[in-house]
Amino acid sequence: MLLLRRLLRVSNRSIFAFIFFFSLSSSCLYFIYVAPGIANTYLFMVQAQGIMLRDNVRTIGHMIRLYTNKNSTLNGTDYPEGTNTSDLIAQPTMYLPENFSFSPDHLCPEKLPFMRGPIDINMSEISLEEIHQSFAKNMNIKAGGHWTPTDCKPKWKVAVLIPFRNRHEHLPIFFRHLIPMLQSQRLEFAFYVIEQAGTQTFNRAMLFNVGFKEAMKDRKWDCVIFHDVDHIPENDRNYYGCGEMPRHFAAKLDKYMYILPYNEFFGGVSGLTVEQFRKINGFPNAFWGWGGEDDDLWNRVHYAGYNVSRPEGNIGKYKSIPHHHRGEVQFLGRYKLLRYSKERQHLDGLNNLIYAPNIHVNRLYKNITVHLVPELAPVRDY
Ligand SMILES: *[C@@H]1O[C@H](CO)[C@@H](O)[C@H](O)[C@H]1NC(C)=O
Ligand SMILES: *[C@@H]1O[C@H](CO)[C@@H](O)[C@H](O)[C@H]1NC(C)=O
Ligand SMILES: *[C@@H]1O[C@H](CO)[C@@H](O)[C@H](O)[C@H]1NC(C)=O
Ligand SMILES: *[C@@H]1O[C@H](CO)[C@@H](O)[C@H](O)[C@H]1NC(C)=O
Ligand SMILES: *[C@@H]1O[C@H](CO)[C@@H](O)[C@H](O)[C@H]1NC(C)=O
Ligand SMILES: *[C@@H]1O[C@H](CO)[C@@H](O)[C@H](O)[C@H]1NC(C)=O
Ligand SMILES: *[C@@H]1O[C@H](CO)[C@@H](O)[C@H](O)[C@H]1NC(C)=O
Repeated sequence: MLLLRRLLRVSNRSIFAFIFFFSLSSSCLYFIYVAPGIANTYLFMVQAQGIMLRDNVRTIGHMIRLYTNKNSTLNGTDYPEGTNTSDLIAQPTMYLPENFSFSPDHLCPEKLPFMRGPIDINMSEISLEEIHQSFAKNMNIKAGGHWTPTDCKPKWKVAVLIPFRNRHEHLPIFFRHLIPMLQSQRLEFAFYVIEQAGTQTFNRAMLFNVGFKEAMKDRKWDCVIFHDVDHIPENDRNYYGCGEMPRHFAAKLDKYMYILPYNEFFGGVSGLTVEQFRKINGFPNAFWGWGGEDDDLWNRVHYAGYNVSRPEGNIGKYKSIPHHHRGEVQFLGRYKLLRYSKERQHLDGLNNLIYAPNIHVNRLYKNITVHLVPELAPVRDY
């Protein structure tokens, strides 16, 4: 009896010890799992604050000089080094005048009078029904969110692809801002929401590839915008047409204090012509979880001989819809994959993708739901 009790006590203790060490080690593992992201974000914030601080010191120095030594700086010869005054002056009005007359036979120009610059952003929640009632209905938007200008010929036919999972409240906020903006830019457009079903980690890049293939079946799009649902443009002069070079629209994000985090940053919102996207073999399919696929796209674009263009000044500003990271896991294998960007470019992308979508045409967008697993994009050895 005594023996049994002692035995039990011992095993009780070891069970507790086991549980203790197990939870300790799993929280350690969890920390290691998320730490690179936390460290990166932290380092970036420190850096960004350093830059802002420097700018502020510069501005304050300038103001002190203005006040103490009143007239000497006013002549414009004595600006503190590095301050570019043309940044501060409003954009010259290269935009067309209000009385510009359209013709249905002519191509819509890129710089239209309705593009007035900063957009009023309203992040409060709203329903898709209200969005539809308030403008889609009056503005002649067809099923799938398809719209074509009637007063001139659209310069670009733009498919807007939105990778999606569990962010239903973001969609109406997104449409509320994007629809008026794209209409003022006189682009033909439609929205494709590509939703990932199943329990696999999120694969933003593969969703874009699926969306691209599905969109191409609908109509002869010539420009494709890859758009995160939580990124809202702050300026309607951020023209969502394509160009000679792939374009990175989201150059300045509020969550990064409106500073480009690093020169190769290609995330958030980007756009390529159909031809460019086919040439680079689309996005890589191998990035499961958060991060890396946009860097790989940057590499692909450069290996194909393109450079990336970005909007100037404040035109590329974006606000993020606030949300909590809902179990988004980082993709730790990304650094290894990124080392082999070049070798993988023609093995993994649009050309090795198998999928079976579920498609519903809604009033404001086409819902393409796919169940994704790694086996749907097999990669040969490289
Ligand atoms: C600054 O310039 C204005 C004219 O531009 C002049 O009236 C004023 O006296 C000047 N002040 C100083 C401190 O030189
Ligand atoms: C500004 O510079 C011009 C010559 O470039 C000079 O004639 C003028 O007096 C200067 N004005 C002031 C306020 O220093
Ligand atoms: C200031 O900006 C303009 C246009 O962005 C550019 O042409 C000019 O070279 C810049 N000047 C300096 C000193 O950076
Ligand atoms: C448009 O307005 C400008 C002045 O704002 C005027 O010079 C121009 O003649 C007008 N054009 C037409 C076609 O009315
Ligand atoms: C923002 O949208 C909400 C819901 O549609 C509306 O009630 C509110 O008045 C809007 N706010 C502004 C500043 O437009
Ligand atoms: C891309 O940029 C690099 C460096 O700025 C330049 O040498 C190259 O010619 C550019 N490529 C194209 C296709 O414009
Ligand atoms: C898309 O359709 C699926 C059904 O196939 C549905 O479960 C999902 O909620 C829809 N998503 C959106 C964003 O409409």
